[in-house]
Amino acid sequence: QKLEMELATIEKGGYDHFMIKEIFEQPRSIADSMRGRLIASEGHLQLGGLENYMNKLAQADRIVIVACGTSWHAGLVAEYLFEELARINVEVEYASEFRYRNPVIGENDVVIAISQSGETADTLAAIELAKSKGATIFGVCNVVGSSIARATHAGAYTHAGPEIGVASTKAFTAQVTVLTQMAIAVARRKGALTEDTYRQLLIELETIPTKVQQVFEYADKIKEIAFIFTYARNFIYLGRGLNFPVALEGALKLKEISYIHAEGYPAAEMKHGPIALIDEDMPVVFLATKDGSYDKIVSNIQEVKARKGRVIAIITQGDTRIPGMVDFVIEVPQVHELLTPLVSVIPLQLLSYYIAVMRGRNVDQPRNLAKSVTVE
Ligand code: G6P
Repeated sequence: QKLEMELATIEKGGYDHFMIKEIFEQPRSIADSMRGRLIASEGHLQLGGLENYMNKLAQADRIVIVACGTSWHAGLVAEYLFEELARINVEVEYASEFRYRNPVIGENDVVIAISQSGETADTLAAIELAKSKGATIFGVCNVVGSSIARATHAGAYTHAGPEIGVASTKAFTAQVTVLTQMAIAVARRKGALTEDTYRQLLIELETIPTKVQQVFEYADKIKEIAFIFTYARNFIYLGRGLNFPVALEGALKLKEISYIHAEGYPAAEMKHGPIALIDEDMPVVFLATKDGSYDKIVSNIQEVKARKGRVIAIITQGDTRIPGMVDFVIEVPQVHELLTPLVSVIPLQLLSYYIAVMRGRNVDQPRNLAKSVTVE
Protein backbone atom coordinates (compact mmCIF):
# COMPACT_ATOMS: atom_id res chain seq x y z
CA GLN A 1 0.00 0.00 0.00
CA LYS A 2 2.67 2.46 1.07
CA LEU A 3 4.87 1.45 -1.85
CA GLU A 4 1.96 1.96 -4.24
CA MET A 5 1.37 5.43 -2.87
CA GLU A 6 5.03 6.32 -3.23
CA LEU A 7 5.05 5.03 -6.78
CA ALA A 8 2.06 7.21 -7.64
CA THR A 9 3.85 10.23 -6.20
CA ILE A 10 6.93 9.52 -8.28
CA GLU A 11 4.85 9.03 -11.42
CA LYS A 12 3.27 12.41 -10.86
CA GLY A 13 6.73 13.96 -10.97
CA GLY A 14 6.17 16.22 -7.99
CA TYR A 15 2.74 17.40 -9.08
CA ASP A 16 -0.40 16.89 -6.98
CA HIS A 17 -2.31 15.30 -9.83
CA PHE A 18 -1.70 13.73 -13.21
CA MET A 19 -3.96 16.30 -14.80
CA ILE A 20 -1.83 19.29 -13.83
CA LYS A 21 1.33 17.40 -14.77
CA GLU A 22 -0.20 16.70 -18.17
CA ILE A 23 -1.32 20.31 -18.62
CA PHE A 24 2.21 21.52 -17.93
CA GLU A 25 3.66 18.87 -20.25
CA GLN A 26 1.98 20.42 -23.27
CA PRO A 27 4.91 22.43 -24.63
CA ARG A 28 6.75 19.12 -24.85
CA SER A 29 3.86 16.96 -26.05
CA ILE A 30 2.92 19.46 -28.76
CA ALA A 31 6.56 19.50 -29.89
CA ASP A 32 6.56 15.68 -29.87
CA SER A 33 3.56 15.61 -32.17
CA MET A 34 5.60 17.59 -34.72
CA ARG A 35 8.94 15.86 -34.17
CA GLY A 36 10.40 14.37 -37.35
CA ARG A 37 7.39 15.67 -39.26
CA LEU A 38 7.84 19.40 -39.44
CA ILE A 39 11.04 21.37 -39.99
CA ALA A 40 10.01 24.93 -40.71
CA SER A 41 13.46 26.18 -41.75
CA GLU A 42 13.51 23.59 -44.53
CA GLY A 43 9.88 24.00 -45.48
CA HIS A 44 9.50 20.32 -44.60
CA LEU A 45 6.21 18.76 -43.54
CA GLN A 46 5.60 15.06 -43.91
CA LEU A 47 3.39 12.67 -41.98
CA GLY A 48 5.03 9.32 -42.63
CA GLY A 49 1.97 7.17 -42.02
CA LEU A 50 -0.10 9.16 -44.49
CA GLU A 51 2.41 9.53 -47.31
CA ASN A 52 0.90 6.81 -49.52
CA TYR A 53 -2.56 8.23 -49.03
CA MET A 54 -1.92 11.93 -49.57
CA ASN A 55 -3.52 11.91 -53.03
CA LYS A 56 -6.59 10.18 -51.68
CA LEU A 57 -6.93 12.94 -49.08
CA ALA A 58 -6.19 15.72 -51.54
CA GLN A 59 -8.78 14.40 -54.00
CA ALA A 60 -11.50 13.85 -51.42
CA ASP A 61 -14.73 15.75 -52.06
CA ARG A 62 -15.67 15.30 -48.47
CA ILE A 63 -14.10 14.26 -45.20
CA VAL A 64 -16.21 12.78 -42.43
CA ILE A 65 -14.71 13.02 -38.96
CA VAL A 66 -15.96 10.61 -36.27
CA ALA A 67 -15.06 10.89 -32.59
CA CYS A 68 -16.43 11.25 -29.06
CA GLY A 69 -15.92 13.67 -26.19
CA THR A 70 -12.84 15.86 -26.29
CA SER A 71 -11.69 14.14 -29.48
CA TRP A 72 -14.90 15.31 -31.13
CA HIS A 73 -13.96 18.87 -30.18
CA ALA A 74 -10.59 18.39 -31.88
CA GLY A 75 -12.63 17.27 -34.90
CA LEU A 76 -14.54 20.56 -34.90
CA VAL A 77 -11.25 22.45 -34.96
CA ALA A 78 -10.10 20.25 -37.85
CA GLU A 79 -13.30 20.97 -39.77
CA TYR A 80 -12.46 24.64 -39.76
CA LEU A 81 -8.84 24.02 -40.79
CA PHE A 82 -9.52 21.59 -43.64
CA GLU A 83 -12.21 23.86 -45.03
CA GLU A 84 -10.15 27.02 -44.69
CA LEU A 85 -6.81 25.68 -45.90
CA ALA A 86 -7.62 22.76 -48.18
CA ARG A 87 -11.14 23.84 -49.24
CA ILE A 88 -12.51 20.36 -48.53
CA ASN A 89 -16.01 19.95 -47.18
CA VAL A 90 -15.91 18.39 -43.70
CA GLU A 91 -18.62 16.87 -41.54
CA VAL A 92 -17.95 16.17 -37.89
CA GLU A 93 -20.04 13.39 -36.40
CA TYR A 94 -20.53 11.98 -32.95
CA ALA A 95 -19.46 8.38 -33.54
CA SER A 96 -22.44 7.15 -31.52
CA GLU A 97 -24.92 8.97 -33.76
CA PHE A 98 -23.17 8.16 -37.02
CA ARG A 99 -23.12 4.43 -36.34
CA TYR A 100 -26.85 4.15 -35.75
CA ARG A 101 -27.96 6.23 -38.70
CA ASN A 102 -27.92 5.03 -42.24
CA PRO A 103 -25.13 7.42 -43.22
CA VAL A 104 -24.59 8.24 -46.87
CA ILE A 105 -21.03 7.12 -47.28
CA GLY A 106 -19.15 5.28 -49.99
CA GLU A 107 -15.89 4.53 -51.73
CA ASN A 108 -15.08 8.14 -52.51
CA ASP A 109 -15.35 9.21 -48.91
CA VAL A 110 -12.54 9.73 -46.50
CA VAL A 111 -13.15 9.24 -42.80
CA ILE A 112 -10.87 10.51 -40.05
CA ALA A 113 -11.39 8.83 -36.67
CA ILE A 114 -9.94 10.71 -33.72
CA SER A 115 -9.35 8.89 -30.43
CA GLN A 116 -6.91 9.31 -27.58
CA SER A 117 -7.29 5.77 -26.28
CA GLY A 118 -7.98 4.12 -29.61
CA GLU A 119 -10.48 1.92 -27.76
CA THR A 120 -13.73 3.91 -27.70
CA ALA A 121 -16.47 1.43 -28.65
CA ASP A 122 -18.66 3.90 -30.57
CA THR A 123 -15.76 5.26 -32.59
CA LEU A 124 -14.57 1.76 -33.44
CA ALA A 125 -18.07 0.75 -34.56
CA ALA A 126 -18.36 3.90 -36.70
CA ILE A 127 -15.09 2.96 -38.40
CA GLU A 128 -16.26 -0.58 -39.11
CA LEU A 129 -19.49 0.75 -40.60
CA ALA A 130 -17.70 3.24 -42.87
CA LYS A 131 -15.20 0.58 -43.86
CA SER A 132 -17.94 -1.85 -44.84
CA LYS A 133 -19.26 0.83 -47.23
CA GLY A 134 -15.84 1.13 -48.87
CA ALA A 135 -14.61 4.42 -47.35
CA THR A 136 -10.95 5.04 -46.66
CA ILE A 137 -10.28 5.45 -42.95
CA PHE A 138 -7.54 7.46 -41.28
CA GLY A 139 -6.83 7.34 -37.59
CA VAL A 140 -5.51 10.03 -35.27
CA CYS A 141 -4.79 8.04 -32.11
CA ASN A 142 -2.57 8.47 -29.13
CA VAL A 143 -2.19 4.89 -27.96
CA VAL A 144 0.12 2.98 -30.28
CA GLY A 145 -1.24 -0.37 -31.47
CA SER A 146 -4.72 0.35 -30.08
CA SER A 147 -7.84 -1.19 -31.65
CA ILE A 148 -8.71 1.93 -33.63
CA ALA A 149 -5.14 2.37 -34.85
CA ARG A 150 -5.27 -1.21 -36.11
CA ALA A 151 -8.71 -0.90 -37.70
CA THR A 152 -7.79 2.11 -39.89
CA HIS A 153 -6.10 2.04 -43.30
CA ALA A 154 -3.53 4.64 -42.33
CA GLY A 155 -3.00 7.30 -39.74
CA ALA A 156 -0.81 9.56 -37.69
CA TYR A 157 -0.15 9.03 -34.02
CA THR A 158 -0.36 12.02 -31.73
CA HIS A 159 2.69 10.99 -29.65
CA ALA A 160 1.45 12.88 -26.58
CA GLY A 161 2.69 10.11 -24.28
CA PRO A 162 0.49 8.32 -21.75
CA GLU A 163 -2.42 10.42 -20.52
CA ILE A 164 -3.59 9.28 -17.08
CA GLY A 165 -5.97 12.05 -15.98
CA VAL A 166 -9.47 11.13 -17.11
CA ALA A 167 -10.07 14.67 -18.37
CA SER A 168 -8.14 14.94 -21.61
CA THR A 169 -5.68 17.82 -21.92
CA LYS A 170 -2.39 17.09 -23.65
CA ALA A 171 -4.04 14.54 -25.94
CA PHE A 172 -6.39 17.28 -27.19
CA THR A 173 -3.64 19.73 -28.08
CA ALA A 174 -1.63 16.92 -29.73
CA GLN A 175 -4.69 15.92 -31.77
CA VAL A 176 -5.17 19.50 -32.90
CA THR A 177 -1.47 19.78 -33.78
CA VAL A 178 -1.55 16.59 -35.85
CA LEU A 179 -4.79 17.57 -37.60
CA THR A 180 -3.34 21.02 -38.34
CA GLN A 181 -0.31 19.39 -39.93
CA MET A 182 -2.61 17.13 -41.96
CA ALA A 183 -4.68 20.08 -43.16
CA ILE A 184 -1.58 22.04 -44.17
CA ALA A 185 -0.04 19.02 -45.93
CA VAL A 186 -3.25 18.26 -47.83
CA ALA A 187 -3.72 21.91 -48.76
CA ARG A 188 -0.20 22.00 -50.11
CA ARG A 189 -0.71 18.80 -52.08
CA LYS A 190 -3.84 20.34 -53.59
CA GLY A 191 -1.94 23.46 -54.52
CA ALA A 192 -4.32 25.47 -52.36
CA LEU A 193 -1.55 27.35 -50.49
CA THR A 194 0.98 29.86 -51.73
CA GLU A 195 4.57 29.04 -50.84
CA ASP A 196 4.61 32.06 -48.52
CA THR A 197 1.51 31.03 -46.61
CA TYR A 198 2.77 27.46 -46.36
CA ARG A 199 6.14 28.54 -44.97
CA GLN A 200 4.51 31.01 -42.63
CA LEU A 201 2.18 28.37 -41.19
CA LEU A 202 5.07 25.99 -40.53
CA ILE A 203 7.06 28.69 -38.76
CA GLU A 204 4.06 29.69 -36.66
CA LEU A 205 3.22 26.10 -35.76
CA GLU A 206 6.78 25.48 -34.64
CA THR A 207 6.57 28.37 -32.17
CA ILE A 208 3.44 27.05 -30.46
CA PRO A 209 5.23 25.12 -27.67
CA THR A 210 6.97 28.35 -26.61
CA LYS A 211 3.68 30.26 -26.74
CA VAL A 212 1.96 27.63 -24.59
CA GLN A 213 4.79 27.90 -22.08
CA GLN A 214 4.11 31.64 -21.87
CA VAL A 215 0.49 31.01 -20.88
CA PHE A 216 1.72 29.22 -17.76
CA GLU A 217 3.04 32.56 -16.46
CA TYR A 218 -0.62 33.36 -15.77
CA ALA A 219 -1.22 30.20 -13.73
CA ASP A 220 -1.28 32.08 -10.40
CA LYS A 221 -3.69 34.64 -11.75
CA ILE A 222 -5.95 31.87 -13.04
CA LYS A 223 -5.79 30.28 -9.61
CA GLU A 224 -7.02 33.55 -8.05
CA ILE A 225 -9.91 33.71 -10.50
CA ALA A 226 -10.70 30.06 -9.77
CA PHE A 227 -10.84 30.89 -6.08
CA ILE A 228 -13.42 33.61 -6.69
CA PHE A 229 -15.64 31.29 -8.73
CA THR A 230 -15.16 28.08 -6.75
CA TYR A 231 -18.79 27.99 -5.65
CA ALA A 232 -20.43 29.08 -8.87
CA ARG A 233 -23.26 26.74 -9.84
CA ASN A 234 -23.27 27.40 -13.56
CA PHE A 235 -20.88 28.64 -16.19
CA ILE A 236 -21.31 29.67 -19.80
CA TYR A 237 -18.43 29.55 -22.29
CA LEU A 238 -18.70 31.52 -25.51
CA GLY A 239 -16.52 31.67 -28.60
CA ARG A 240 -16.79 32.06 -32.34
CA GLY A 241 -15.02 30.42 -35.27
CA LEU A 242 -12.09 28.34 -34.15
CA ASN A 243 -12.75 29.39 -30.57
CA PHE A 244 -16.23 27.84 -30.61
CA PRO A 245 -14.90 24.28 -30.16
CA VAL A 246 -12.60 25.69 -27.48
CA ALA A 247 -15.65 27.03 -25.64
CA LEU A 248 -17.20 23.56 -25.79
CA GLU A 249 -13.98 22.01 -24.54
CA GLY A 250 -13.66 24.53 -21.69
CA ALA A 251 -17.20 23.78 -20.55
CA LEU A 252 -16.62 20.03 -20.79
CA LYS A 253 -13.43 20.25 -18.70
CA LEU A 254 -15.28 22.15 -15.97
CA LYS A 255 -18.22 19.71 -15.92
CA GLU A 256 -16.01 16.65 -15.89
CA ILE A 257 -13.84 17.46 -12.92
CA SER A 258 -15.60 20.12 -10.83
CA TYR A 259 -19.21 18.91 -11.38
CA ILE A 260 -20.28 22.49 -12.05
CA HIS A 261 -22.90 22.76 -14.75
CA ALA A 262 -21.34 24.45 -17.75
CA GLU A 263 -22.39 25.03 -21.32
CA GLY A 264 -20.41 26.07 -24.35
CA TYR A 265 -22.12 27.98 -27.13
CA PRO A 266 -21.21 29.81 -30.31
CA ALA A 267 -21.29 33.39 -29.02
CA ALA A 268 -23.87 34.54 -31.57
CA GLU A 269 -26.30 31.82 -30.50
CA MET A 270 -26.45 33.35 -27.03
CA LYS A 271 -29.33 35.58 -28.07
CA HIS A 272 -31.39 32.52 -29.02
CA GLY A 273 -31.75 31.25 -25.47
CA PRO A 274 -28.79 31.30 -23.10
CA ILE A 275 -29.01 35.08 -22.70
CA ALA A 276 -32.11 34.46 -20.56
CA LEU A 277 -29.80 32.87 -17.96
CA ILE A 278 -27.54 35.88 -17.57
CA ASP A 279 -27.60 37.75 -14.27
CA GLU A 280 -25.05 38.76 -11.64
CA ASP A 281 -24.64 35.13 -10.59
CA MET A 282 -23.71 33.86 -14.01
CA PRO A 283 -20.00 33.68 -14.85
CA VAL A 284 -19.40 33.85 -18.58
CA VAL A 285 -16.05 32.90 -20.07
CA PHE A 286 -15.42 34.61 -23.39
CA LEU A 287 -12.82 33.44 -25.87
CA ALA A 288 -11.99 36.92 -27.12
CA THR A 289 -8.63 36.69 -28.84
CA LYS A 290 -7.67 39.11 -31.63
CA ASP A 291 -8.98 37.37 -34.70
CA GLY A 292 -11.55 37.85 -37.44
CA SER A 293 -14.43 37.67 -34.94
CA TYR A 294 -12.95 40.10 -32.44
CA ASP A 295 -15.39 42.98 -33.01
CA LYS A 296 -18.35 40.63 -32.91
CA ILE A 297 -17.16 39.11 -29.65
CA VAL A 298 -16.74 42.58 -28.16
CA SER A 299 -20.43 43.26 -28.86
CA ASN A 300 -21.37 39.92 -27.30
CA ILE A 301 -19.39 40.88 -24.18
CA GLN A 302 -21.28 44.17 -24.01
CA GLU A 303 -24.57 42.28 -24.20
CA VAL A 304 -23.57 40.13 -21.23
CA LYS A 305 -22.24 43.05 -19.20
CA ALA A 306 -25.47 44.99 -19.84
CA ARG A 307 -27.24 42.13 -18.03
CA LYS A 308 -24.75 42.14 -15.16
CA GLY A 309 -23.11 38.84 -16.07
CA ARG A 310 -19.61 38.37 -14.66
CA VAL A 311 -17.15 38.07 -17.49
CA ILE A 312 -13.80 36.33 -17.62
CA ALA A 313 -12.22 37.01 -20.99
CA ILE A 314 -9.37 35.15 -22.63
CA ILE A 315 -7.68 37.90 -24.62
CA THR A 316 -4.59 38.41 -26.74
CA GLN A 317 -1.63 39.98 -24.96
CA GLY A 318 -1.60 43.73 -25.42
CA ASP A 319 -5.35 44.05 -25.95
CA THR A 320 -6.31 47.35 -24.35
CA ARG A 321 -10.00 47.39 -25.20
CA ILE A 322 -11.47 44.38 -23.43
CA PRO A 323 -9.76 44.75 -20.00
CA GLY A 324 -11.82 47.88 -19.30
CA MET A 325 -15.07 46.13 -20.13
CA VAL A 326 -14.89 42.88 -18.17
CA ASP A 327 -14.31 41.59 -14.64
CA PHE A 328 -11.22 39.48 -15.30
CA VAL A 329 -8.87 38.92 -18.19
CA ILE A 330 -6.40 36.15 -18.88
CA GLU A 331 -3.88 36.90 -21.59
CA VAL A 332 -2.54 34.51 -24.18
CA PRO A 333 0.25 35.31 -26.64
CA GLN A 334 -0.49 36.34 -30.21
CA VAL A 335 -0.38 33.36 -32.57
CA HIS A 336 -1.39 32.76 -36.19
CA GLU A 337 -5.17 33.00 -36.24
CA LEU A 338 -5.61 29.40 -37.40
CA LEU A 339 -3.57 28.13 -34.46
CA THR A 340 -5.56 29.98 -31.78
CA PRO A 341 -7.15 26.90 -30.12
CA LEU A 342 -3.74 25.56 -29.15
CA VAL A 343 -3.17 28.50 -26.83
CA SER A 344 -6.69 29.61 -25.93
CA VAL A 345 -7.62 26.20 -24.49
CA ILE A 346 -4.75 26.24 -21.97
CA PRO A 347 -6.21 28.81 -19.50
CA LEU A 348 -9.52 26.92 -19.60
CA GLN A 349 -7.82 23.67 -18.65
CA LEU A 350 -6.11 25.45 -15.75
CA LEU A 351 -9.28 27.22 -14.64
CA SER A 352 -11.23 23.96 -14.42
CA TYR A 353 -8.33 22.22 -12.68
CA TYR A 354 -7.97 24.88 -9.96
CA ILE A 355 -11.72 25.13 -9.39
CA ALA A 356 -11.99 21.33 -9.03
CA VAL A 357 -9.05 21.21 -6.61
CA MET A 358 -10.55 24.01 -4.50
CA ARG A 359 -13.81 22.09 -4.39
CA GLY A 360 -11.93 19.04 -3.17
CA ARG A 361 -12.81 16.89 -6.17
CA ASN A 362 -11.05 13.77 -7.29
CA VAL A 363 -9.49 15.50 -10.26
CA ASP A 364 -7.78 12.56 -11.89
CA GLN A 365 -10.67 10.15 -11.47
CA PRO A 366 -13.93 12.06 -11.50
CA ARG A 367 -17.05 10.19 -10.49
CA ASN A 368 -18.93 8.25 -13.15
CA LEU A 369 -16.30 8.81 -15.83
CA ALA A 370 -13.85 6.42 -17.45
CA LYS A 371 -10.67 7.16 -19.31
CA SER A 372 -11.61 4.90 -22.16
CA VAL A 373 -15.17 3.88 -22.83
CA THR A 374 -15.01 0.42 -24.31
CA VAL A 375 -18.71 -0.28 -23.92
CA GLU A 376 -21.71 1.54 -25.34
C1 G6P B 1 -14.09 9.41 -22.44
C2 G6P B 1 -12.99 10.24 -21.79
C3 G6P B 1 -12.83 11.56 -22.53
C4 G6P B 1 -12.59 11.30 -24.01
C5 G6P B 1 -13.67 10.40 -24.62
C6 G6P B 1 -13.27 9.91 -25.99
O1 G6P B 1 -15.32 10.02 -22.22
O2 G6P B 1 -13.29 10.48 -20.44
O3 G6P B 1 -11.75 12.29 -22.00
O4 G6P B 1 -12.53 12.51 -24.69
O5 G6P B 1 -13.88 9.24 -23.83
O6 G6P B 1 -12.14 9.08 -25.85
P1 G6P B 1 -11.08 8.78 -26.92
O7 G6P B 1 -10.08 7.85 -26.24
O8 G6P B 1 -11.79 8.06 -28.05
O9 G6P B 1 -10.47 10.03 -27.38
